[in-house]
Amino acid sequence: MVQIFLDTANLDAIRKYNDMGILDGVTTNPTLLAKENSDPIEIMKEIIRIVKGPVSLEVVSTDIDGMLEEAHRLARFGTNAVIKIPMTPDGLKAIKRLSSEGIKTNCTLVFSPNQAILAAKAGATYVSPFIGRLDDAGHDGMQVIRDTVQIFRNYNFSTKVLVASVRHPVHVVEAAKIGADVITMPPDVLEKMIKHPLTDKGLSTFLADWEKVKRMNPNIDLSLVQP
Ligand code: E4P
Repeated sequence: MVQIFLDTANLDAIRKYNDMGILDGVTTNPTLLAKENSDPIEIMKEIIRIVKGPVSLEVVSTDIDGMLEEAHRLARFGTNAVIKIPMTPDGLKAIKRLSSEGIKTNCTLVFSPNQAILAAKAGATYVSPFIGRLDDAGHDGMQVIRDTVQIFRNYNFSTKVLVASVRHPVHVVEAAKIGADVITMPPDVLEKMIKHPLTDKGLSTFLADWEKVKRMNPNIDLSLVQP
């Protein structure tokens, strides 16, 4: 089953969709944390508390020692913490080390199947191709997902393909058709997945017709119906 992650550091949005029972995890990054008006460390800890599934928390050092130091600290926030490491030479080294220690990683800022192969070989738990940013640059982001999913299947890689930088619900449908493992999306895309104008229209017709039924049967009350 495709997993749905929310790509945000907004606690209200995380609580809202988590309460609906449709959230499998959360991804954050420094840009998303910068949009919130609270202590980023407290926000990350709170997301870890709210969400049962994997929560990606990103390191900001770029050298191997700094990345490992931050990764170890972030990993202690909770057993569901996944450490986001950028796709760089030091990042690959860090992923290899962390994976040998049993710490889950998400290789971020991936823009090609070649980068995805290397992240998987290093032992990343997730690899995150950024499809929206590729589309913005005039490339076909979804093709990177197609290629990566096929390559990982060819070799039975256990690394999961996490579709990132999702811009609209069509991205979600396409990624799910390809068979990507996880799709992370901003709250507005998840909201658009839920809503459909024909659902709203259909519901108001059903409710109006039920009022007619009640006028014909004044004592009817579904909440009091006996089996
Ligand atoms: C993924 O984990 C990233 O946080 C995110 O999807 C980046 O998306 P953007 O291109 O909308 O910033």
